[in-house]
Amino acid sequence: MILVRRFENADWLAVWPLLQATFDAGDTYAYSPQSTEAEIHEAWVELPSATYVAVDLQGHLLGTYFIKPNQPGLGAHVCNCGYVVSPAAQGRGVASAMCTHSQAEAVSLGFLAMQFNLVVSTNERAVRLWQHLGFAVVGTLAQAFRHQRLGLVDALVMFKTLVDVD
Ligand SMILES: CC(C)(COP(=O)(O)OP(=O)(O)OC[C@H]1O[C@@H](n2cnc3c(N)ncnc32)[C@H](O)[C@@H]1OP(=O)(O)O)[C@@H](O)C(=O)NCCC(=O)NCCS
Repeated sequence: MILVRRFENADWLAVWPLLQATFDAGDTYAYSPQSTEAEIHEAWVELPSATYVAVDLQGHLLGTYFIKPNQPGLGAHVCNCGYVVSPAAQGRGVASAMCTHSQAEAVSLGFLAMQFNLVVSTNERAVRLWQHLGFAVVGTLAQAFRHQRLGLVDALVMFKTLVDVD
């Protein structure tokens, strides 16, 4: 059972080590592997419009995501999200549940579309999953990501319209 709910301050104790380990690996997000706790808290909790966690029935953390405007002002109707699933919980539909949840949340927050700016091309599970959930690859950024093991690799821009406005 996967429950997705708003992040509460007490969640940070479990969210922070998950984000730290994810960013430290340097293979999926551009955040510096040397990011401090304060920097990651700002990026994941303070700057976004909203942050969420996925938990099991016992309340154990399975994953987390944020939602924020992708651009200021005239681009602010397109949102951007970041998702991380605990390694122990991967392959069980947690990211699928969070992404589906985020699309509904985005609409209720007034966003009309969702954009992922830097999906690392070698992150095949993520690319395939986002495509299954209706996101199109709208562009490839040549060597835009400095992968910690593979060196410079391509990154994808992915986009999904959430609300059709005529
Ligand atoms: C990429 C990431 C978010 C995927 O999370 P996940 O929870 O493993 O993803 P899911 O389980 O929802 O989906 C993975 C696959 O399992 C399948 N699946 C979904 N529900 C399932 C279930 N109940 N049981 C088994 N498999 C399931 C999905 O259909 C998907 O299949 P696909 O690979 O053919 O698309 C996760 O690996 C992660 O956090 N990686 C590190 C950070 C990262 O890369 N974030 C994304 C940046 S763009």
